[in-house]
Amino acid sequence: MKILVAANQKGGVGKTAALVHLAFDFLERGLKVAVIDLDTQANASYTLAQYKGETVASDIFFGDPAPVWIAPEEGTLLLIASDTGLVNLEQLPLPEAISRFRESIRQIRDQEFDICLIDTAPSMGVGLMSALYVSDYVLSPIELEAYSIQGIKKLLTTISNVRRTTVPGIEPNTGLKFLGMLPSKVDARKPRQVRNLAELQAAYPELLVPLNIGFRDGIAEALASGIPVWQIKSTAARKAALETKAMAKYVLENMGLKT
Ligand SMILES: Nc1ncnc2c1ncn2[C@@H]1O[C@H](COP(=O)(O)OP(=O)(O)O)[C@@H](O)[C@H]1O
Ligand SMILES: [Mg+2]
Repeated sequence: MKILVAANQKGGVGKTAALVHLAFDFLERGLKVAVIDLDTQANASYTLAQYKGETVASDIFFGDPAPVWIAPEEGTLLLIASDTGLVNLEQLPLPEAISRFRESIRQIRDQEFDICLIDTAPSMGVGLMSALYVSDYVLSPIELEAYSIQGIKKLLTTISNVRRTTVPGIEPNTGLKFLGMLPSKVDARKPRQVRNLAELQAAYPELLVPLNIGFRDGIAEALASGIPVWQIKSTAARKAALETKAMAKYVLENMGLKT
């Protein structure tokens, strides 16, 4: 099982949009997909509500006894939904959060899921940090605006710390791979965004996903309707469908899974 976290401590940059489209695409490919929603805003849980399982996200950290996972069938999506218990996560010491999370991941792996996708809250807290310690891959949607670009530098530093630094009693996550920054909500009619993209490409060519997701209403509509954008019929949605499908293929290939 491969584990991917959508991470950017800035909100509104397209993390959840990317993550739920990965989940829909992987499901359509017949993979067994688990989605863990660690954001108390519960946006992924809203869009993927039809896939909600009995276990909720706070059970990972506070479940007593630890949660038992239902064995999935082929081509299954299991949502481990955000719940109000997650508000206590920020009070949990990081080493304990990481070891609880690692134990749950081990159990999910035992259920023969192919992929576990983790959506995170927009803050550099215990939720995001512990997710970075249990994941194999990080994908970071960004907006092509100054605040977003500023924020990504801090995230890159955090990722390199997670690879090297031992939290008391916890091994560093030496194998954590950065899949890249995914320019999202891109408006090519805005010269500022075009300029920022060019600057990012010049400064961090190896850290940018060589694709982007345009600003398109179809995506917001899809997220609100609980369906992938490729099921929405409009011209803008067709473009968004091509972009999100290309993104999913890129992610799958770069996680070493067959497409
Ligand atoms: N490519 C896009 N085009 C238009 N709107 C988008 C796009 N991606 C996300 N949105 C909208 O922008 C808002 C923030 O996106 P979201 O994925 O929730 O960001 P995050 O998870 O990083 O906070 C949501 O209202 C969502 O519907
Ligand atoms: Mg979100």
